[in-house]
Amino acid sequence: MATCCRKLVFCFLAALALAARAQDEGSPPFITTPGEVVERMLAIAGTGPDDFVIDLGSGDGRIVIAAAKRFGARALGVDLDSRLVKLSRESAEREGVAGRVSFEVRDVLLTDVSRASVVTVYLLPGLLEKLKDKLFSEMRPGTRIVSHAFAFVSWRPDRVEKVHVSKPHRGQGDESTIFLWIVPAEARGAWRAFAADAGGEWRLRIHQNFQDIEVEAAAGGKDLAVREARLTGERIEWNGALDGAPFHYRGRIAGARIIGEIALGTGAKARHAPLVLERAR
Ligand SMILES: C[S@@+](CC[C@H](N)C(=O)[O-])C[C@H]1O[C@@H](n2cnc3c(N)ncnc32)[C@H](O)[C@@H]1O
Repeated sequence: MATCCRKLVFCFLAALALAARAQDEGSPPFITTPGEVVERMLAIAGTGPDDFVIDLGSGDGRIVIAAAKRFGARALGVDLDSRLVKLSRESAEREGVAGRVSFEVRDVLLTDVSRASVVTVYLLPGLLEKLKDKLFSEMRPGTRIVSHAFAFVSWRPDRVEKVHVSKPHRGQGDESTIFLWIVPAEARGAWRAFAADAGGEWRLRIHQNFQDIEVEAAAGGKDLAVREARLTGERIEWNGALDGAPFHYRGRIAGARIIGEIALGTGAKARHAPLVLERAR
């Protein structure tokens, strides 16, 4: 584990110990995400009225309540601690969003995340790592995962942002890091297409590690140099050259098809042709 991550985990655990002591004095043992960071996490995820947000380990319910109140989303919070769930429900009533949010006493590892379009977390790396495969396999392409402070070990984030907070807090001091991942579609494997007016027969092989892809392509029997291949949710694109002319391909992965278009040439003079790739057996 990198030194700075170890330091963050140490600060987090020290803050938890303090919080546990505070519990003996009557307040709940959990660390909250500061309001400015909550706001930024939901904004980075592009949260809006069409979203269903799930906060895994929802604490006092602040992320869920902000998702409904400030971003118009519907939201669910799950937490093992029944007192925090009760507190969250009361806060939602008070904030006037009880009709758009719900809270359940549940283990995050046993929570159905398939209906979320945004998942938020502020959990220790060990638990985050246990969640990774579940989130990756259960969530639809395009779903956004936003984490406060901790990142998955082997899944590169799509975006990392530091947020300075006006009032230092127990977990992360005066600076919080936010990580964003966008769940990628399954692009890996062999694909084929035929485009009479754009290269003839296309054969592709896509190698994939989460959202990172490499594309090997041939058109009309000739290998193509493909550059800048990108996969974002179900959107895929890359650049290349066909018969000496640059092209840009952009498509959407829909199960066994990539429905897209190739732009041959550049700028206003580019010629556009549909290019629909089918999974090859
Ligand atoms: C650091 S707090 C974050 C609270 C809130 N999401 C926030 O950002 O302010 C983590 C919360 O996760 C809860 N938690 C930890 N492990 C959990 C698990 N396996 N299942 C459900 N909740 C869990 C804890 O009770 C705690 O309230």
